[in-house]
Amino acid sequence: MCGIVGYIGHREAYPIILKGLKRLEYRGYDSAGVALYDGNTINLCKTKGKVEALETKVKTQIATKGTIGIGHTRWATHGVPNDTNSHPHVSNSGNLVIIHNGIIENYESLKKELIKRGYNFASDTDTEVLVNLIEDVQKNQNTKLGKAVQIALNQVIGAYAIAVFDKKKPNEIVTAKLGSPLAIGIGDNEFFIASDASPFIEYTNNAIYLEDEEMAIIRRGKDIKIRKIKNDSIVAPYIQQLQINLEQIEKGGYDHFMLKEIYEQPNAILDTFRGRLLSKDAIIKMAGIEDNMKKFLNAKRIIIVACGTSWHAGLVSEYTFENLTRTPVEVEYASEFRYRNPVINEDDIVIAISQSGETADTLAAIKLAKAKGAFVFGVCNVVGSSIAREAHAGAYTHAGPEIGVASTKAFTTQITVLTLIALRLARAKGTISSTDFRHHLIELELIPEKVKKALQSDAYIKVVSEIYKDSKNVLYLGRGYNFPVALEGALKLKEISYIHAEGYPAAEMKHGPIALIDENMPIVVIATKKGHYEKVVSNIQEIKSRKGKIIGIVTEGDTSVKDLADHVIEVPETLEPLTPLLTTIPLQLLSYHIAVMLNKNVDQPRNLAKSVTVE
Ligand code: AGP
Ligand code: GLU
Repeated sequence: MCGIVGYIGHREAYPIILKGLKRLEYRGYDSAGVALYDGNTINLCKTKGKVEALETKVKTQIATKGTIGIGHTRWATHGVPNDTNSHPHVSNSGNLVIIHNGIIENYESLKKELIKRGYNFASDTDTEVLVNLIEDVQKNQNTKLGKAVQIALNQVIGAYAIAVFDKKKPNEIVTAKLGSPLAIGIGDNEFFIASDASPFIEYTNNAIYLEDEEMAIIRRGKDIKIRKIKNDSIVAPYIQQLQINLEQIEKGGYDHFMLKEIYEQPNAILDTFRGRLLSKDAIIKMAGIEDNMKKFLNAKRIIIVACGTSWHAGLVSEYTFENLTRTPVEVEYASEFRYRNPVINEDDIVIAISQSGETADTLAAIKLAKAKGAFVFGVCNVVGSSIAREAHAGAYTHAGPEIGVASTKAFTTQITVLTLIALRLARAKGTISSTDFRHHLIELELIPEKVKKALQSDAYIKVVSEIYKDSKNVLYLGRGYNFPVALEGALKLKEISYIHAEGYPAAEMKHGPIALIDENMPIVVIATKKGHYEKVVSNIQEIKSRKGKIIGIVTEGDTSVKDLADHVIEVPETLEPLTPLLTTIPLQLLSYHIAVMLNKNVDQPRNLAKSVTVE
């Protein structure tokens, strides 16, 4: 995720763009930049760091004249955060300048072709490839910018919200959208382009939200033409009158960032396997794994180190790795691992999981592992973060910035990456048949839609939340792949509603926790069809006989648990290793609604920080 802002009209562009970038800061970013055209020159300034750093740099670096310009706050996906990789990017001729939110999956093959045609590249980004591809089309087919953008985008696989202009035609900006958000503000003889309405809502509440695979050619003082990227067909512009305020825009219309991020999970999971999971070719492509395949195949053991929710994702992947690859796995709390003088061998692989990539305990754990000769692989959400840089190799989750302290989309995208790794290794080791491998890929591709289906229980979950919001203690039970999900569900409830909750393996109940059960104790039991279902049903019967209140998370169409539980929340069926991606959804929503009903600070719970960079 990042922010794009563009302006073409009668006012000075820079103040509007700068303020717009500040309005988009909530979207998270690691660098920022602006390009302005003053009638002769494209004045461009960009920098790693915050928008304030850009504002300071602009003061001494460029003139800020011009009534057409574009600005960008970057959330790096390809190329670490630094000045050169920041946007805007300029084409080789110096005529075209672009900003981009999203991922060009096939940028490497496009880049190879452009290099053959004599193009050179200053940055490591996918975006710089796109601006030169547009230039190449414009030159070879002698087309106008709009047509060149349309032809170029038909060669692109991936997600984008872009704005691009040609200094030779400074009365026009072209913008296009697929998979990333893009809004166009329609002012009085001026147009605004942005990732959402926050940069222009103070100037106009007339907006056009482009649909996927649409582009717009915006001509100063004239008009806006919307077309389908696929076939250049004309689309009638639909101008909306926005009745929302700034705060509502930042949260995407949701009441809290946490709820927005829960609902972003279908896209976050899709973005995370985009370009890596190619089911029709039955291949998984992850550079970090391919380049180190020998190490992974020779590993005698995989040690996973993490904290909190990331540790729960690691626990899920212990089941996945051992079931699929037969490589022994140990999952360690980083804070314990770093101090207990662990046995670490040179043929160990240590996987560090961290959303922020800055968790002190996890960083210390991998430094210890490296010092003892282990190979360290990082799974982080922030490109260029400390853990990502400390690891020997890694794979990023593409969840986009996670602003709510309670981790939601980070958890599901971590499981997605780890499942891809386990499947890739199982294929290489021959511990999974090609039929099963393909079946897992196809099922994983269906997960975003199945998460959307699971989210449809939101209203019912709110009703259940109302019943149990005043509970003092809650038990979460699960077996197999769903045991870590039970732990995660309990953590979610604890950290945002401050209600004490515990997760347990369902079979462990009879070894103690069952003493807690009475008519005041709600028990959330994950009882999906896959994974020791009958045994979990008997656990439910034990609870029922002690008058416990049962909230069952079941596979859609389940009837047995429905007869026993006080409430059942259904999730779609999927393969066992993928079940956590679905069963966690109702638990996220349950904790969210209870916390809201208790008037807690859902996005910034007391005593907690988004990234624990201290011991
Ligand atoms: C989970 O909701 C919490 N925010 C916390 O447990 C978090 O998962 C933990 O601090 C690890 O953070 P990291 O993934 O950034 O390393
Ligand atoms: N993929 C582009 C890059 O890494 C854009 C990332 C973003 O959306 O900010 O520069």
